[in-house]
Amino acid sequence: MQFPEYRPRRLRMNETIRSMVRESTLSPKDFIYPLFVKPGEGVRDEVSSMPGQYQISLDQLPAEIDELKRLGIPAVILFGLPHSKDAAGTEAYDEHGIVQEAIRAIKKHDPNFYVITDVCLCEYTDHGHCGIIDKNGYVLNDVTLELLAQEAVSHAAAGADMVAPSDMMDGRVAAIRAALDHEGYENVPIMAYSAKYCSAYYGPFREAADSAPQFGDRSQYQMDPANSDEALRETALDIEESADLVIVKPALAFMDIIRRVKDEFGMPTVAYNVSGEYAMVKAAAERGWIDEQRIILETLTSFRRAGADLIITYHAKEAAQWMIEAAHKGVDGFKK
Ligand code: PBG
Ligand code: ZN
Repeated sequence: MQFPEYRPRRLRMNETIRSMVRESTLSPKDFIYPLFVKPGEGVRDEVSSMPGQYQISLDQLPAEIDELKRLGIPAVILFGLPHSKDAAGTEAYDEHGIVQEAIRAIKKHDPNFYVITDVCLCEYTDHGHCGIIDKNGYVLNDVTLELLAQEAVSHAAAGADMVAPSDMMDGRVAAIRAALDHEGYENVPIMAYSAKYCSAYYGPFREAADSAPQFGDRSQYQMDPANSDEALRETALDIEESADLVIVKPALAFMDIIRRVKDEFGMPTVAYNVSGEYAMVKAAAERGWIDEQRIILETLTSFRRAGADLIITYHAKEAAQWMIEAAHKGVDGFKK
């Protein structure tokens, strides 16, 4: 096909034909919305590095869920700010921990709303690492597996529909699967943070979830951003251990990994559009340096083009609202 017989611009003449040949779609159904829950009453504390995102108390959950339903967003992923922290991250697997109670509050309000939980210890340990540490500060892998399994089971027992281990310990998917099955939760899927990099893009999240490590960093368990083949090995392991969905995280700087993981495994693949990606867009938009709506919709559509089936994103609510408005205007470029 050669110019002048072939002219690619023919299929760009107007929005009707552009939308007819559009390859990737974006819908509110693709979104998973992160929520930060904390103790208290009537609490709605904005996260300073994530404008528009809040740490909320349990009484705020029903209104939050109603809003998500109105927007067509099917699921949340819960993060907890516990009542107290200790070396063993006890509240992570406490039957009455903050996340366990949040699950119950949501399920009481609407048993059909889909609740996913982040399974990790860093929000609950006083040292801020994702597992139990020894006297040298080394995060102990196999000891931690036991606690992660308990945490996942406690979430399922409280009514969680799905669990998402984000710790990057070796063997955690198998440990969690075995524990869930043993307790009768064989139908609770595991969405594994399979290719999770040691990233500076998590900065604002550590304020939101109060989970910054008190010493060192996470480079002994999270992946080196320079690596790509390793992401496939990590993902292959999680799938062998029976992960049901796999996450690539962060998303924006790791689009190549999303594509490789999707092509290699054909699994339901999830992009985590992380806190630092959100913060950069908000900061530039606040200064009037970018067209916020277009940047966000273009970025989210690009995760889909890269191979993501689902997107965990702080932009979920605003993006869904824009899609609804566009659909009403009849000029929707993003509708399924
Ligand atoms: C906990 C966890 C983190 C994120 C999700 N789960 C932080 C980290 O690993 O340091 C990051 C999410 C974001 O930045 O939006 N392990
Ligand atoms: Zn963690």
